[in-house]
Amino acid sequence: MNILFTETSPANVRLIARIVNQGDALSDLDAALSDGAPAARFKGSAGQVFEGFVTDAGSLKRVAIAGAGEPDSGKRRLNVERAGAALMAKYLRSGETEMVLDLGHASFSGEEAAAALLGLRLRSWAYDDYRTKLAAEKKITLKTVHVIGAPEGTAQAWEIAQAVATGAEFTKKLITLPANILYPESFVALCEEAFAGTGAELTVLDEEQMGELGMGALLGVGQGSVRASRMLAIQWNGGKKGEAPTAFVGKGVTFDTGGISLKPPPGMEDMKWDMGGAGAVAGGMLSLVKRKAKANVVAVMGLVENMPDGNAIRPGDVLTTMSGQTVEVLNTDAEGRLVLCDALHWTQDVFKPSRIVDFATLTGAMIIALGHEYAGVFSNDDDLADQLMAAGTATGDKLWRLPIGPAYDKLIDSPIADIKNVGPRPAGSITAAQFLHRFIKKGTKWAHCDVAGMVFADKPGHTWDKGATGYGVRLIDQFVADNAEG
Ligand code: BES
Ligand code: MN
Ligand code: ZN
Repeated sequence: MNILFTETSPANVRLIARIVNQGDALSDLDAALSDGAPAARFKGSAGQVFEGFVTDAGSLKRVAIAGAGEPDSGKRRLNVERAGAALMAKYLRSGETEMVLDLGHASFSGEEAAAALLGLRLRSWAYDDYRTKLAAEKKITLKTVHVIGAPEGTAQAWEIAQAVATGAEFTKKLITLPANILYPESFVALCEEAFAGTGAELTVLDEEQMGELGMGALLGVGQGSVRASRMLAIQWNGGKKGEAPTAFVGKGVTFDTGGISLKPPPGMEDMKWDMGGAGAVAGGMLSLVKRKAKANVVAVMGLVENMPDGNAIRPGDVLTTMSGQTVEVLNTDAEGRLVLCDALHWTQDVFKPSRIVDFATLTGAMIIALGHEYAGVFSNDDDLADQLMAAGTATGDKLWRLPIGPAYDKLIDSPIADIKNVGPRPAGSITAAQFLHRFIKKGTKWAHCDVAGMVFADKPGHTWDKGATGYGVRLIDQFVADNAEG
């Protein structure tokens, strides 16, 4: 999507859009619109769109009015973003190729105007590359938005918002690509391409290197797959020299069949999204790097494919993790925690972070608990949990905290090894978090975000179409802006 700023409205564009606040008079418009909007029950609530047609100097104009809700709402930025996104949802495949968007009607600040544009851009993302027979009327037509009436400060705020959009688009692409295209090595290759020339430093471990480091758990998950496993680290040192970084760690299971504990066929295709944690971390990092965040940050992704095979791990196998702790594998489908435990240990060992936040599509139980509205957050540090939840509220990537503690920890003691990889059915998301906690060194602040219900959606949302949501990118970006910069 080309988003261009101009002084005056280009004359030959048919589609003219504006964003208004709830209750705003539309008195400068033709009566067909100013009377038509209330007649169509348009109030200007966030995300509402009214469309009318007028003739202007002999040519037909299509006029769209989008609502941004009450101007003094606590959710102002998200509401404005919704207005932009709603316009894009309506016109992306409408036949119109260009839109004029007049931002001079809702007394926006520069940041709010940029939020409207962020909404437009986020909602414009789609992946039609594999649809060779898409009907003409379903193809994307809108290519350019000419922005007029942008308040002072829009351009600067838009610079930052664009970095976030770039990150979210990268995450959506990683999540959308099917598992025959996206596997550990190709995930790494896409990151190498995306981060090339940005100043970020990439480190890739192959299976031999991970074997030497003793990552028996991560390698165990990958050993049934013909695709080689990888560990990927992306470092960005935009902060004070020598200051311990903030680490983000992602579960990158590029496909999760369940392994020998095979999943049932219905819905198994959803497990191409099981790298959603790693996808969020990669895109979050890209947004930070693109806007040259003044913080030291490292992103670590454990990349494997979980397949059943003659060489696959079996229920009952005991694996030795890089930390030295042994794990009894009771269910090969509880593989995410096996990948993360080595990724978390390695992250602490090598990067000595001041705090770690991991993202993982870890448990189906998380979806049972919270549905698709909130990701769950688990933490050994109240401040860290609060900071993450605040960033989530501000960006719409919402988090809800759940408990961890010694009483739950007992549920994963193994009779043969140090720990078993599944507990009983109750509190399945908590025992998964508890498993990860055993790999966090004393004194390290850590939070785990179980994003199983958030990385993809089977219905369109405000800023995404059906499919990949980009969840986590804005959360990471906001969390770093609020807590690691300046
Ligand atoms: N990747 C799944 C969790 C998942 C399920 C994510 C549905 C998104 C949608 C994870 O690896 C898994 O299979 N977890 C098991 C754990 C169980 C065996 C303890 C689960 O949730 O059933
Ligand atoms: Mn699984
Ligand atoms: Zn999984």
